[in-house]
Amino acid sequence: MLSAVRRCYNLKPQVPRVRYLCSTTVPAGSKVSAHSFEDFVHKRQEEATRSVIVQVSSERSFPELYNYCRDYGNIISAFHYCVRHDDVQHYILLEYENAQQASEAIDSAAYNEDLTGVPVRSPFLWFRATGRKTIQRDTVSGSKTQLAALDGIRIMDNDALMGTLREAVDIEKQIALLYENTKLNDLGIRLRFLAASQVQQAISGMFPLARALPFGSSVNGFGKNGCDLDLILRLDEECKGPDSKKRPESRLVFHTKENLTNGRSQTQRQMESIGDMLHLFLPGVCHVRRILQARVPIIKYHHEHLNLEIDLSMSNLSGFYMSELLFMFGEFDERVRPLIFCIRRWAQSCGLTNPSPGRWISNFSLTCLVIFFLQQTKQPILPSINTLIRSAAPEDVRITEDGINCTFARNFEAIGFSSKNSNKISDLILQFFEFYSQFDFQNKAISLNEGRAVSKPDHSALYIVNPLEQLLNVSKNVSLEECERLRIEVRNAAWVLESEVENYQQTGVDKSQEPWGLLNLFKTPDKNIIRPNMFFKPRILEVSELFDNTETPPATKSTSSNTATA
Ligand code: CTP
Ligand code: MG
Repeated sequence: MLSAVRRCYNLKPQVPRVRYLCSTTVPAGSKVSAHSFEDFVHKRQEEATRSVIVQVSSERSFPELYNYCRDYGNIISAFHYCVRHDDVQHYILLEYENAQQASEAIDSAAYNEDLTGVPVRSPFLWFRATGRKTIQRDTVSGSKTQLAALDGIRIMDNDALMGTLREAVDIEKQIALLYENTKLNDLGIRLRFLAASQVQQAISGMFPLARALPFGSSVNGFGKNGCDLDLILRLDEECKGPDSKKRPESRLVFHTKENLTNGRSQTQRQMESIGDMLHLFLPGVCHVRRILQARVPIIKYHHEHLNLEIDLSMSNLSGFYMSELLFMFGEFDERVRPLIFCIRRWAQSCGLTNPSPGRWISNFSLTCLVIFFLQQTKQPILPSINTLIRSAAPEDVRITEDGINCTFARNFEAIGFSSKNSNKISDLILQFFEFYSQFDFQNKAISLNEGRAVSKPDHSALYIVNPLEQLLNVSKNVSLEECERLRIEVRNAAWVLESEVENYQQTGVDKSQEPWGLLNLFKTPDKNIIRPNMFFKPRILEVSELFDNTETPPATKSTSSNTATA
């Protein structure tokens, strides 16, 4: 496979490839003890109902806050984090033993006398500290809860991260360090589920069946610290799965308003109202923008107490089930997530991906490329989606309101897949680049359903069959130039990694002196070297180009005027 890469760069034939220095071998089919996505989501949702977030003047307020709040119940964990804008705001998340205790703490809260906004009940509070030195009291059981995190959502800056990777003993360790230091941490997940819980709680009086569900990188296991939150808000029970049958038949039935005949207009009208509600009443919510003419209408907003960008949609649950699929792929084999983090970082550093939507490949499409690669290796590391579909049981049936069939087995034992592939992640990265250096993007489409390449149904530059809506292309947005850039960059990367191995073998690099291993893969391109990909200048699409008609009201400031007292 590499011969083509070498031809491309006129490279000399290489000594046989060695494995990167690594003391451990990966056991074949190295399954992590697989967790169910539904359990994960339920546990996190339940955790959010037991949690409150209190703004404080600094982490030094913790003993006083703890002594005050433990009167409402047993505090089982506490986390500190900061939000940095012009100044630094401090927050402490308190987790109670049960939801009743958290609720009592919230119900005990007063409203600020100077408050100009409408009083609203939410899990976002602030603490009037006395400033007096306080000694933290023990709990009834005699133990004290310590702050489990200090500045717990701070993102490691690039230089520090690269410094950490430089110190690693081998590339395998570099991969592990990259994953450990950049993946969305426990506190990050808690904050995202609290954001969802805030929306759900705010409207639950009027819409008792409403559910706000996080999806995308916040929950699929591929999110990094600081990633945006994708949220689906459903006002009804959308899913026609087994759960819906559990409702008891009552002879008393609620009166309701008739729906509009056009489902899309209905969703848009509802989203306008929800957007207003978020903007006018929800503490912490600011910069609300309604993008209702997009294929999937969304409301974008910022949460100032969570330092979080949120995209809220109210369409079907297919994005949520797609996240479940990705989560399961991450659970199948412990190499999958670190590998995807590596590939995503590489794509970011060479400018293949970009935080704004445009004609380039998205993180989601890139993730599909990695999963597909792992499905088609000689000894597959991941099963095809069709394998999951074939193993589905009646309780796995999920059909969205608009008929998208999201049925696939959720039970790992029923799927019964295990891999005999024992390659190390450092080998797999190189194989990934080699594979896509050779891939026939012109004629072939990538099908995760089949786990093999199929004929391209149209002339899109990059074609990845949407796993849940197989007539759609996940990467339809990718232009020919960007697809070409992808091809060039995977060849560059294969070349860099090959050279790394060779250097190692011949000279033995002094790892403390110069960049080595992944650092060379993550190097931003040297501006003095003209590489072929530089002829293609990425162009960020205007919002109006992405959507037919975009409604973008002026940015708004949150109604909250609260600040913690010193
Ligand atoms: N999604 C999908 N089909 C698409 C695009 C997105 O099903 N064509 C779903 C996927 O579940 C995806 C989620 O929507 O994970 C959110 O999309 P996006 O925010 O673009 O990707 P993320 O995976 O969240 O990655 P990022 O960290 O870049 O936000
Ligand atoms: Mg996302």
